[in-house]
Amino acid sequence: MGRFCKCNGRLLCMCMLPCMMTCHLLIYIAVSIFVTISYSPPKINLHYVAPGVTANSSALSSHPRGPFWNLRLEDSALWNQLQHVWDRRHNPLLRGNRTGLLKPNAKTPDAEDECVSDCESHKCSVPAMLDFSSLPEHMKAFVTAMHCREYPLLINQPSMCRRNNSSADLDTPMLLIAVKSQVGNFENRQAIRETWGRAGFVKGETSRKGGLVRTVFLLGRQDSSTGPHPDLKNLLDLENQKYQDILQWDFRDSFFNLTLKDLLFWSWLQKHCPTAVFVFKGDDDVFVRTGALLDYLHKEWEEHSLWRAYTNESQMNLIVGDVINNAMPNREPSTKYYIPERFYQGVYPPYAGGGGVVYSGSLALRLKEVSAKVRLFPIDDVYLGMCLHKLGLSPRHHPGFLTFDLPAAERWNTCAYKSVLMVHRRSPKEMLALWKQLQDLSSQC
Ligand SMILES: *[C@@H]1O[C@H](CO)[C@@H](O)[C@H](O)[C@H]1NC(C)=O
Ligand SMILES: *[C@@H]1O[C@H](CO)[C@@H](O)[C@H](O)[C@H]1NC(C)=O
Ligand SMILES: *[C@@H]1O[C@H](CO)[C@@H](O)[C@H](O)[C@H]1NC(C)=O
Ligand SMILES: *[C@@H]1O[C@H](CO)[C@@H](O)[C@H](O)[C@H]1NC(C)=O
Ligand SMILES: *[C@@H]1O[C@H](CO)[C@@H](O)[C@H](O)[C@H]1NC(C)=O
Ligand SMILES: *[C@@H]1O[C@H](CO)[C@@H](O)[C@H](O)[C@H]1NC(C)=O
Repeated sequence: MGRFCKCNGRLLCMCMLPCMMTCHLLIYIAVSIFVTISYSPPKINLHYVAPGVTANSSALSSHPRGPFWNLRLEDSALWNQLQHVWDRRHNPLLRGNRTGLLKPNAKTPDAEDECVSDCESHKCSVPAMLDFSSLPEHMKAFVTAMHCREYPLLINQPSMCRRNNSSADLDTPMLLIAVKSQVGNFENRQAIRETWGRAGFVKGETSRKGGLVRTVFLLGRQDSSTGPHPDLKNLLDLENQKYQDILQWDFRDSFFNLTLKDLLFWSWLQKHCPTAVFVFKGDDDVFVRTGALLDYLHKEWEEHSLWRAYTNESQMNLIVGDVINNAMPNREPSTKYYIPERFYQGVYPPYAGGGGVVYSGSLALRLKEVSAKVRLFPIDDVYLGMCLHKLGLSPRHHPGFLTFDLPAAERWNTCAYKSVLMVHRRSPKEMLALWKQLQDLSSQC
C-alpha cells in the first residue's frame, strides 16, 4: 500500500509539473500583456514653466516622437514637421529615397539647400502653415526667413586672434568673450570694455594664473531699412576704428533673429579664432567676474588634461550655465517668448539660460557642425539646447550663473558676490560701480 502511494505520488508529481510550469508561463504572459497594454509614458516632472504657459499645452516630447521608421509626417506643428524631414535626411539608416517624405507642396531638399544662402529666391517661399496670417508679426517675419541662415559680414575682425598680424600665427585666448549687443548700445559696450570685458591678459582672482582674454560684440543691422531706427552707421564705424571689436552681419537685429548671431558667430569662430580655449557668450546687460571665471575654467581645464592623459579623449565638451530643465513653450500670445502650438510642440530640451553661458572652444566647433542639422528656432538659448541634444550632450548647471539676479537685499552686499560668476542684469553705471567695489573681494570676505 505504502509503496503504491509513493509511486503514485511520484507519477502525480511528474504529471503536475509540466502543467504547473505551463500555468506559470501563461500567467507570466498574461501579466506581461496587461502591463504592456496599460503602460502610459511617465509623467514629465515640470521644474520650470515659462511664464504664460497654459495648463493644457500638451507635453509631447520634442525629439523622437515615434519610431524612427514612421514615414507619416505629423500634420501639426511646423518646426517639428520641418525637423522631421531633416532628421530623416540625416539618418544614416534611412538615407536614400527622400521622395516619399515630402508633402506634395514641399520643396525638394536640393532646392532647400540653395535657400540657406539665397534668401531672396522665389523657390524658397514660406512653408505651408495653418493660419499663417493670424500669427503675431515677429513670428511671421521669423517663419518667412527661417530657411535662410547665411548673411554676409558688414564689419569683420579677421585679426582678432592673430599674433603679429600674420595669418599663420594664431593666438590661443583662454577666454573669448562674445557679447550680443545692438547698434545703439554704445554705453553698454563701453562699460563692458572698461570692466569685465577688458581685453588682454587678465589675472585670476585666487590662483595667479589668469589668461588671455579677447572680446567681440555681435551685432545685426538696425537702421531705417529694418525699422524706426536712427542711422548710427558713422558712429559705429568710428567706434570700430577705435576698438576693433565689432562683428556685424547683414540681418535685421531683432529678438527672434538672435539665433542667427549664434550660428554666424560659430562660423566666424571656426574661421578666425578656432584656437580659443573657452567661449563666454552673453548679453550686454550682464556682469561677469572674469577673474573668478578664469579660475574656474583653469580648474576644469586641468581636470580635463588629467582625464585626457588616461582616455586619449582630446575633445572637451564643457558647457556651463544656469540650466533650465523641462521648460514648456510659452503659449501666451501677448509675450515676447510666445511660441504658437502650430509652430512647435513639445518640451524644450535642457538649456542654459541665455544671459550668459560658457562653453569650450572645441564644443563650439562641434555645435557649428551639428547646427546644420537643426532647424532654426526663434529663441537662441533653446536652439543651443536643441543642438546639444542632437550631440547627445546636456549643459551643466552652476549656481554661480545668476540669470535671475541676487535677492534684492543682497545686491549691494559685496560679499554676496563671492560665489557669483555672472549676474543678470546690470546697467552700465552699475557695472562700473560693481567692478570697483569687487576689486579686492577675496581680502574683504
Ligand atoms: C486647451 O484648451 C482650449 C481652451 O480651453 C481648448 O480649446 C483645447 O482643446 C485644449 N487643448 C487640449 C489639448 O486639451
Ligand atoms: C522613392 O519613393 C517613391 C514614392 O514612395 C517612389 O515612387 C520612387 O520610385 C522611389 N525611388 C527610389 C529610387 O526608390
Ligand atoms: C612680433 O613681431 C615682432 C617684430 O616684428 C617680434 O619682435 C616679436 O617677437 C613677435 N612676437 C611674436 C609673439 O611672434
Ligand atoms: C595687418 O595686415 C593688414 C593686411 O594684411 C593691414 O591692412 C593692417 O594694416 C595690418 N595691421 C597692422 C597693425 O600691422
Ligand atoms: C531676420 O533677418 C532677416 C534678414 O534681415 C529678415 O528678413 C527677417 O525678417 C528677420 N526676422 C525677424 C524675426 O526679425
Ligand atoms: C592615443 O594617443 C596616442 C598618442 O597620442 C595616439 O598615437 C593614438 O592614436 C591615440 N589613440 C586613439 C584611439 O585615439
